[in-house]
Amino acid sequence: MERQTILLGAATAAIGQRCAGKLPSHDPHGQMCRRPWLRLGSRVTARSDSIMAPASGGQQVSTVSFVIRGFLESDADDVNRLAVAAFAEFRTAYSDWTAMVANLSKMSTLAAVGELIVAERTGRIIGAVTYVAPHRPKAAFFDGAWPIVRMLVVDPKCRGQGIGGALMLECVRRAKRDRAKVLALHSSPIMTAALALYHDMGFAHHRDGTPVFGVPTAVYVMQLQPCS
Ligand SMILES: CC(C)(COP(=O)(O)OP(=O)(O)OC[C@H]1O[C@@H](n2cnc3c(N)ncnc32)[C@H](O)[C@@H]1OP(=O)(O)O)[C@@H](O)C(=O)NCCC(=O)NCCS
Repeated sequence: MERQTILLGAATAAIGQRCAGKLPSHDPHGQMCRRPWLRLGSRVTARSDSIMAPASGGQQVSTVSFVIRGFLESDADDVNRLAVAAFAEFRTAYSDWTAMVANLSKMSTLAAVGELIVAERTGRIIGAVTYVAPHRPKAAFFDGAWPIVRMLVVDPKCRGQGIGGALMLECVRRAKRDRAKVLALHSSPIMTAALALYHDMGFAHHRDGTPVFGVPTAVYVMQLQPCS
C-alpha cells in the first residue's frame, strides 16, 4: 500500500521557487493563471516527487495540515459519505438525485478498478479521488491508453484549502510515474470550482459527453510533458 505525506503549503512554496522563471505568466487562453503551482502538466510533477516523503519511510516532510495517502478498507464508509456530501450542492441539477446518491455511495468500490487516494486530517477523511492507470478498465469515451481521474471530492467544510489541488497533483504524479503523455477526466460545466481548478492545471475541453441525469458532461484532457 502506497502511503505518502505532503504539506501543501510547503509544496506550493517549493514548487513556486523552483519553477521561477519557467512558468508562463499567462495561460494558453490569455488569462492569468490563478494557481501557477498547479500549471504542472509539464513543469511541476517531476518536482512534486521531491516534496513527498517516500512511501515506505513513513517520514513527513514537515508539519502537515492534511495527509495524502492511499485508501484503506477501513476508509470505505467515510469515503462514501464524503462523496454524497461533496456532490450535494448539485442535487437540484440532477433529474434523479436518489439514483445519483446510490452511485455516489459506492465511491469506495473504485478502489477495485483504480488507485483510490484520500486526504486525511486528524483522522478524518476530508477528500478523495481515484486515479485509473493506462489500460485499466474505463468508460468508452476515454482512450483506453489514457490514465484518468475519477470522482474528485472534498468535504464542503474544507474547501478552498488546496486539498482538491493536492489530490489532483498526486494523480498527475502517478500519471507521470506511468509515463503517460496525457491525463484525462470526465466532468461537467456545472462543476465550476472543479473546472477552474482543472483549467489552472492545464486541462482543456476535449469533447462533449452524454448528459448524466440531465446534467451536461464533457471530457477534459491535460498534456503531460517532461520538465525541461
Ligand atoms: C472541486 C473541489 C474538489 C475542489 O476542492 P478544494 O479543496 O476546494 O480545491 P482547492 O482548494 O485546491 O481549490 C478550489 C478553488 O475553489 C474555490 N472554492 C470553492 N468552494 C470554496 C469554499 N467553500 N471556500 C473557499 N473556496 C472555495 C477556491 O476559491 C479555490 O480557488 P482559488 O485557489 O483560486 O482560491 C470541490 O469544490 C468539490 O468537492 N466540489 C464538488 C464535487 C465536484 O465538483 N467534483 C469534481 C468532479 S469532476
